[in-house]
Amino acid sequence: MANQIVEAIEKALADAQVRLAAATAPDAVEAVRIDLIGRKGLLPALSKQMGSIPPEERGVTGKAFNTAREQLQQMLDAALERLNSAADADAAGIDLTLPGRRVDVGHKHPVVKVIDECAEIFRRMGFMVAEGPEIEQVYFNFDALNTPQDHPSRDPGDTFYFSDGRLLRTQTSPVQIRVMESHEPPVRIVAPGRCFRRDTPDATHSMNFHQIEGLYIDKNVSLADLKAVLRNFATEMFGPEVRIRTRPHFFPFTEPSVEYDFSCIMCGGKGCNVCKQSGWLEIAGAGMVDPNVLKNVGYDPEIWSGFAFGFGIERLAMMRYRIADIRWLYENDVRFLAQF
Ligand code: DAH
Repeated sequence: MANQIVEAIEKALADAQVRLAAATAPDAVEAVRIDLIGRKGLLPALSKQMGSIPPEERGVTGKAFNTAREQLQQMLDAALERLNSAADADAAGIDLTLPGRRVDVGHKHPVVKVIDECAEIFRRMGFMVAEGPEIEQVYFNFDALNTPQDHPSRDPGDTFYFSDGRLLRTQTSPVQIRVMESHEPPVRIVAPGRCFRRDTPDATHSMNFHQIEGLYIDKNVSLADLKAVLRNFATEMFGPEVRIRTRPHFFPFTEPSVEYDFSCIMCGGKGCNVCKQSGWLEIAGAGMVDPNVLKNVGYDPEIWSGFAFGFGIERLAMMRYRIADIRWLYENDVRFLAQF
């Protein structure tokens, strides 16, 4: 008999717990109180049965009643407290059921993404990443790269000079010299970075842009090696359907020099606005490193040979993400940048 009463008390408490947890207003809490310890409540009704149990069991049962009352009071208080603080929040205009505010962490700029992607592709081909300064000496940017004194790119109308004679590098090619001067051959590096030229900004020009330079020096290197590397790069970056072609060109630091075109990513080579109906996009300058450059850094051109190349990163990014105007990359408009 005593056990049955204790069990009934426990069940009553468990039920009350469930009802209180579901309560959304103080009325509901009050209803639980009335049902359990009101005048006609469950606990008073149960305690009336105390008379029918043997005196030696009354102690235990009485104790059960007392603890139940205490616990119930705590549960009622806690439920009211919960409802009150929600009501306070409500009065203050705070909706506790709303999800938290998302912290906007941002992501990499499309130019940085393309640099990372290029570096990763060349890394898989055995190239290490090298870096050089953006404020450069004339020696590294022009002289050591075999650039004649009267070459138009040296003109202050094309290049930003500091009053001390240094300049903002116009290309990543000076990193070639820095790496060769500080390392014995063989050399296999790519050097991504920021470059600067006095260009008038338009859809394809920016005074501030990025290149990724490549340099490969070893024994018996040929133009076929260069072609294989660029072929592989094109496949990794834009897929196997992209075709590549070379055209003869001139750069002071390579001989022979070539320009690389990729078949137009936009139209697949059929001809469109982006490729100016030619089906091809100019994508990189390259060539076999001029023996004069090797001599300038103390490499013996009779033993060592190699190739170099330079890509415009923005151009790759514009092809990769189908961006029509280079200036959009530099306006810091989050609505634009968030798309990539
Ligand atoms: N530095 C050249 C430019 O800015 C690009 C270039 C051409 C880099 C040929 C090279 C190269 O390494 O071999 O136009």
